[in-house]
Amino acid sequence: MNALPEEFLFTLLEKNPIAEEFRRCHISLNQCGKGFSCSCPFHSETGKSCFIYPETHNFYCSSCHCGGDVITFLMLMQNFSYEEAIQFLAQRSQLSIPSASPENAFQIQQKRERCFQINKDTANFYYQNLITPSGQAGLNYFRKRKLLPQTIRKYGLGYAPDNWHSLHDYLSRKGYSDEEMILANVCRQGKNGQLYDNFRNRVIFPILDMQRHVIGFGGRVLDDSKPKYLNTSDTPVFDKGNHLFSLPFTENSSVFILAEGYMDVIALYQAGFHNAVATLGTAITPRQARLIAQYAEEVIISYDSDSAGQNAAQKAISHFQEVGLPARVLHMTNAKDPDEFIQNFGKEHFQNLLNHALSVTEFSLNRCQENLDLQTQNGKTTYLRRISLVLAGIGNQTEQDVFIQKKAKELDIRPEILRQAVERSANDQKKFQGKKFFQEIERRFSHISRSESKNTKSEELILAYLMRFPEIISTVMQILQPEQFTIEFHRKLYQLLCQILPDCTKFIPSLLGNSLSIEEMCRTTGIFFDYRDKLNQQALEDCIHNLYLFSAKPTIPEPSGISDNELLQRISNKKKNTHWI
Ligand code: GTP
Ligand code: MN
Repeated sequence: MNALPEEFLFTLLEKNPIAEEFRRCHISLNQCGKGFSCSCPFHSETGKSCFIYPETHNFYCSSCHCGGDVITFLMLMQNFSYEEAIQFLAQRSQLSIPSASPENAFQIQQKRERCFQINKDTANFYYQNLITPSGQAGLNYFRKRKLLPQTIRKYGLGYAPDNWHSLHDYLSRKGYSDEEMILANVCRQGKNGQLYDNFRNRVIFPILDMQRHVIGFGGRVLDDSKPKYLNTSDTPVFDKGNHLFSLPFTENSSVFILAEGYMDVIALYQAGFHNAVATLGTAITPRQARLIAQYAEEVIISYDSDSAGQNAAQKAISHFQEVGLPARVLHMTNAKDPDEFIQNFGKEHFQNLLNHALSVTEFSLNRCQENLDLQTQNGKTTYLRRISLVLAGIGNQTEQDVFIQKKAKELDIRPEILRQAVERSANDQKKFQGKKFFQEIERRFSHISRSESKNTKSEELILAYLMRFPEIISTVMQILQPEQFTIEFHRKLYQLLCQILPDCTKFIPSLLGNSLSIEEMCRTTGIFFDYRDKLNQQALEDCIHNLYLFSAKPTIPEPSGISDNELLQRISNKKKNTHWI
């Protein structure tokens, strides 16, 4: 994406205050000087390492080194691309992106609009089919599954006819091109080049985003053939790891139900539980966990009762723990999933299950027995090890005591024995978790970890200085060549600053947004903030001097042709003549 005009960018940032964006995501902020502090939404912490600086429109976490502006925030939170974040913010604040700005972004937006339209027409086609004779099979299927007409209408359910071309013909008549149909993944191209309908002889579940655009579809076979479900592949408007089925239909509720399947969610809705969502044919992603955390204060995981479902529940728990959303787990017997449970036992009984959903500790303790024969010594030892591990993970001391007493009684051992085992586990876990935590941060922001060498710090301080006092760029440019920066990223940043600062009155890192990856933006923001109290002229001179001492000495730019000392002298003189600090 080309650089956006500075004025537009500043207006965009002012109309979309960074603090507001945090609040929208239900992150509570504490006033802190001119800005705010909060728990960092990008790593798990109980402290408040994340700072928001409204004046420069950005945020920075001093702990995980994640930072940037409202655009970066949306890229991280919503998985938007840079272009998408700009589009989204411009649209929301009713700004039009100036024409000098990227054709590219405009084209992307146009493609998205066409995808939304094609999906809407496709959804309509499938829905209308249900009331035609050729769609009878679909309607019968939904009847068999006890769906009421109002439920079918609410979800816009449909039927894809048992035919290779009916949707293609319909969309062609509506003026869509083959390319557009392929892009939206409603049709595919066969070996002979001809297009065929992606969904055939399947009942259709449209998937909507929060603005209620149709973004994709799930389609189920009417019998036992495979694959049971088919989902839209990722398209310009659909990323299955980033959306949740039925999220736009959830009503204000502090507790969400997370189910496995489309049919579970729909059956729950029909039974009056308007707060259920499901993932889209894959295991829950961290982004989806975060999405739920934006809308709910607690989630009840209501996965299938089989072991696959229970294993998936365990994984989901860890995702919710990472985003700090309290979770409980439904304990369901005599039915394989919520849909079947409601059909068999009714909604009152399901409400009862919800009321008695297990805490994460109870759920994990229950699972410790799985596949173990407690009559054998081996089984007992493994069981003790497993429960110690779970008990060690309980943060609350009183709760831990209660469970230790309870389990010790059950195992017929003295509580002290169990407590010792728990303490050993806790020590092992600490080591492990510390390692895991840092691995996670390293993986995510591997480019950000900054070496501690003197040279690194010198380079960073120079860059920080330039960002805070853009007016000195012309002087520094004469003295320092990009090659004198030993760290590649610093070289890149210096080059960018040399391009942009000469025309810049007030610099903020956002001005580099289109040239930096998320990681680079985090790193730039880090440099921008970490040195803000350390910027004085002496420090700058020392750091430039360091670069001359430590880096491979380049030839000094021809026109000046003066010694290092003279150059440094020049900086000092410059200070005397003009107030450039
Ligand atoms: P019903 O049999 O219609 O009640 O479906 P279910 O929702 O109970 O299905 P199941 O528990 O087997 O699967 C849960 C979810 O996993 C479904 O809603 C789909 O999103 C997904 N899923 C199931 N089978 C497939 C498959 O064959 N392919 C893909 N991509 N997803 C599947
Ligand atoms: Mn089911």
